[in-house]
Amino acid sequence: MSISIRVDGVELSGRDGQTIAGVLLGNGQRTWRDAHDGRRGIFCGIGVCQDCVLTVNGVEGVRACQRTAADGDVIEREGRA
Ligand code: FES
Repeated sequence: MSISIRVDGVELSGRDGQTIAGVLLGNGQRTWRDAHDGRRGIFCGIGVCQDCVLTVNGVEGVRACQRTAADGDVIEREGRA
């Protein structure tokens, strides 16, 4: 089953069961957070480094590599410059 999430107002499609990071990567996005020393995306992939954090449905600091994407999720990128 396919799902749809919205990231900074852009609709992205994925498959049921994918993490948010999986949906982003599947849509060609390799980085999505601004850090003081560059752009971040997936680093550890196991919930430790927090490089992948996003705001999901108003909740800040959600690890994209750990959170399963749900149809209709509204996601905003976080900048930590
Ligand atoms: S990639 Fe390290 S916490 Fe998600």
